[in-house]
Amino acid sequence: MDKLYPPIYYSDYLQLSKLLSSQKPKSNEYGKPAHDEMLFIVVHQVYELWFKLILHELDLVLKMFREEVIDEKNIGVAVAKIQRITEIEKILIDQLRVLETMTPLDFLDFRDFLFPASGFQSYQFRLIENKVGLKSENRIQYSNADYFNTLSLEHRKLILESMENLSLFELVEKWLERTPFLNFEDFNFWDVYKTTVEQMLDGERQVILENKTFSEEKMENQLRQNAVTKEHFEALFNEDKYNELKRKGVSRLSMKATLAALFINLYRDEPILHMPFMLLNTILEMDELFTTWRYRHVLMVHRMIGSKLGTGGSSGHAYLMQTVEKHRVFIDLFNLSTYFVSRSTLPELPYKLKKELGFYYSSQL
Ligand code: HEM
Repeated sequence: MDKLYPPIYYSDYLQLSKLLSSQKPKSNEYGKPAHDEMLFIVVHQVYELWFKLILHELDLVLKMFREEVIDEKNIGVAVAKIQRITEIEKILIDQLRVLETMTPLDFLDFRDFLFPASGFQSYQFRLIENKVGLKSENRIQYSNADYFNTLSLEHRKLILESMENLSLFELVEKWLERTPFLNFEDFNFWDVYKTTVEQMLDGERQVILENKTFSEEKMENQLRQNAVTKEHFEALFNEDKYNELKRKGVSRLSMKATLAALFINLYRDEPILHMPFMLLNTILEMDELFTTWRYRHVLMVHRMIGSKLGTGGSSGHAYLMQTVEKHRVFIDLFNLSTYFVSRSTLPELPYKLKKELGFYYSSQL
């Protein structure tokens, strides 16, 4: 060892005296001790510690993606850090079970002491949402109340900062737009691919038409859905139509970024696209797990308070249920699967392009 560092005591290193004296049940203070309030406090504190770590990981990924040119090595690092976030999210979901060992009646023993505090005011949760890319205009509002107005001035400052900087969504969009693999020179990949997808959608239409078990109404619905999918797919190649979808909120990613993401997904087996695919896939996983947490939390809330208003003043269960679908961020990555075709029908890439996408020492090329 180059240098001797002073010995440190475990408890001091972890600042346990501060940490373990930070649980102050209100029910004790008011002379009406409620045993389960300790559980309630500890579980929330553990959540906030995990949120802190998620932000720590997310900030590193954002920093790497803010660079003009992203070092290829950093894509692997980003994947590893986002995978760490997904593992934490799994714990966040599971952890609700510990809280659910408290019954609604036990909760009522101290709930009245908490107004108007609520997880709604978790500024770290809002920072995560903003940094991942949830836009203010896409947030569900309740009673015209914005979460921002419920926060302290110190926390509002942090929130404003998080909104001024580019989010993970925006940075990944820019990165996708810079993908170099979309120049196919004389090979018109998208024409070949378009025909393949159109054939797939026509095939689906035929299956619907031949389904004798469908009522007239169901058949009509299915055919309409098939036509909408076709229209959306065509929009991927028409700037005006695509921008119309963006205006309507059907798509959020730019057309160029969407095509890049589609290409990466379709040709993910090519060595050079493997890491970009992993990145998109882990981001999708992260988004899905946040949605799962929201849904799991709302089920717990329903069980605990039924249809009572939340301590933060929202309609409680009803408000939260709406956020489950509306607060998804990377929905475009999920929608891409609509246009996937099986490997056997994928257009074969020209030799030169395949060579560019492979490692030079590949034995097949
Ligand atoms: C007995 C347990 C819990 C109940 C009854 C409950 C209830 C609620 C309710 C009703 C809301 C809507 C806002 C309001 O009007 O208050 C809410 C929001 C929220 N809660 Fe909980 N909660 C519980 C536990 C937790 C835990 C353990 C966490 C972890 C940090 C948490 C985090 C949040 C967050 C982040 C929001 C904001 C969600 C959003 O606006 O999208 N909650 N909670």
